[in-house]
Amino acid sequence: MDSTLIAQTYRRFAERECKGYAPTDYDLALAAAGDDDIVAFLTQLPVAQPNLFFAAIQLLAGPDGMPARAALPAFVARRADELAAIMRSRRTQTNEVGRCAVLLPALPPGPLALLEVGASAGLCLLLDRFRYDFGSALIGDPSSPVHLRCAVAGPAPLPPVVPRIVWRAGLDARPVDVHDDDATRWLLACVWADHRDRRRRLEAAIEMARKNPPVVGKGDLVDDLPALLAEVPDDAQLVVFHSAVLTYVAADRRQAFAAILAETSRRRDVVWLSDEAPGVVPELTAPALPSDELRFLLGRTRFTSGRRRDELLAVAHPHGTELTWL
Ligand SMILES: C[S@@+](CC[C@H](N)C(=O)[O-])C[C@H]1O[C@@H](n2cnc3c(N)ncnc32)[C@H](O)[C@@H]1O
Repeated sequence: MDSTLIAQTYRRFAERECKGYAPTDYDLALAAAGDDDIVAFLTQLPVAQPNLFFAAIQLLAGPDGMPARAALPAFVARRADELAAIMRSRRTQTNEVGRCAVLLPALPPGPLALLEVGASAGLCLLLDRFRYDFGSALIGDPSSPVHLRCAVAGPAPLPPVVPRIVWRAGLDARPVDVHDDDATRWLLACVWADHRDRRRRLEAAIEMARKNPPVVGKGDLVDDLPALLAEVPDDAQLVVFHSAVLTYVAADRRQAFAAILAETSRRRDVVWLSDEAPGVVPELTAPALPSDELRFLLGRTRFTSGRRRDELLAVAHPHGTELTWL
């Protein structure tokens, strides 16, 4: 990326993703965009994405030691080699359990077989082990160490209980091993520094997964999907889901993914839940969104005998803190 594009990207990231939500990243993104030396440093890197830069800073400084806006140029100058090494060797990785609150009202009744693509550490596959607070309704295990709060607007069909899950498995191009300390430290560094609650619940979910890890195989969501689909037991409703994943996949691969689900539905019904940015699943037409802030669309597509029926169910905060049912 050239310097003009980098500065624009950082400004847009600040305004669109961080404003009013992540003040530290907001300040740092604007500081980076306005500092020629930092922009020059970023232009030398293969990936200059703001999330990667701030995760690298957080890995070095810790969430409580993030530099202030005015101190960023000196921090980058002092630790340029370490930052560059991290940004060359790592890519941002997330596993946002908050998205389970968005998926929960869209689940069909159990028993369910859950298959997640782009599952990361597989933490969202544990959605029946969390506690959900939707304001008007508390759902799930009251003793769970993972509490998810989601503000709901509109007629969301909140279930009285989490559907029974009888089988679960994930697939990821770069799965995160919950027993690998370096990998989980990086996963935590990718949570925005101000988001202490998100970090705490991610730590709790990792701890939970360490005791009973979900199975996440290494593989591609198109090439390796048929083999995993073949393992799904027949006596459960199959739900294939993903959040913040298809956005990283080319349009023809997204179509190939959907075609596999359509083909699978010739022998069994498939429910496909997608929680992605607008436009990623083109069959889900985005409503006029109220502001410039990034929102995800929750879609449910039912495949039966090779045919699909798409429903746009809700607009959701990318981290699952708000859900507007349509
Ligand atoms: C932003 S993370 C989201 C992780 C998780 N779905 C969540 O909501 O927290 C995107 C994930 O998709 C995975 N991914 C990207 N392209 C993939 C592909 N072609 N096949 C399988 N996984 C892929 C990445 O490795 C990464 O773990």
